[in-house]
Amino acid sequence: MRKFLGHEPYHQSEDDKRVQQELRAQGKLPRHIAVIMDGNGRWAEERGLLRAAGHQAGIASLRDVTRSSRELGIGYLTVYAFSTENWKRPKREVSMLFRLLVKMLRDEMQEMLENGVRLKTIGQINLLPKVVQQELYDAVERTSKNKGLTLTLALSYSGRWDLVHAMQAIALEVRSGKISPEDISEELIRASLTTAEMPDPDLLVRTSGELRLSNFLLWELAYSEIHVTKTLWPDFRREHLYEAIREYQTRERRFGLTGAQLKKEADDVSHEHKSYVEKLISKISRG
Ligand code: FPP
Repeated sequence: MRKFLGHEPYHQSEDDKRVQQELRAQGKLPRHIAVIMDGNGRWAEERGLLRAAGHQAGIASLRDVTRSSRELGIGYLTVYAFSTENWKRPKREVSMLFRLLVKMLRDEMQEMLENGVRLKTIGQINLLPKVVQQELYDAVERTSKNKGLTLTLALSYSGRWDLVHAMQAIALEVRSGKISPEDISEELIRASLTTAEMPDPDLLVRTSGELRLSNFLLWELAYSEIHVTKTLWPDFRREHLYEAIREYQTRERRFGLTGAQLKKEADDVSHEHKSYVEKLISKISRG
């Protein structure tokens, strides 16, 4: 018998498979999507519910976005689940969020294991209640061999905290004489962040219409495309994610270059590729 998953069994519809196929066919998919999940409180207040109901409803959104990202073949999904600033919220709301987090980890574990989802965390996990730390540690450990989507929960996280933490690690290296100040480079700073093992996000999605970064992935978002939607997080579903990806696909990613430079780069790459293929064919035909 199928194990209880904590939610309804899931089957991807044929229509959705077709939509995903179109998305793949019409352009490049982002390798890494970062999400600021915002608007849970407003969603609940609009319905005369407690804010906790908004956070609970937000879990269904996270589940749908995780499933659809995995199905699409997105490599990394990083979500802002609890910021350093969120500690200032009423104690009841904070402890409710952690209770929901523990329930979510337990409910979703089976599906994560069946679908190759690897769970990671970034942030000051040591500040979380001990039981939550233990649940997170176990979930990360159990999914660590999975090779599909990497789902990273940013918890007690802020971009500035991560930069401070990286600078302190680098300062210790300098003080011990292992490196000199001239060795400090973008690569070294990048490698000292808690996100070192993942590529920078190609796309940042923010819900509920706010136009702020809110201290999320400050270093890593330097060149990311930003998609803001008025949809509140508990209403956000895969269709909204597809819309964000479509918008991403229509934008030109310049990395500070002009359109003409970008075209030249593309031409050079295709020229290099052509001459490589020609050399290979002539080598093969010579035997
Ligand atoms: C922001 O909405 C959302 C959060 C602070 C938490 C997001 C958490 C989830 C979606 C659930 C999954 C993760 C955990 C930790 C259980 P808000 O409350 O700031 O909304 P508002 O801006 O409308 O007040």
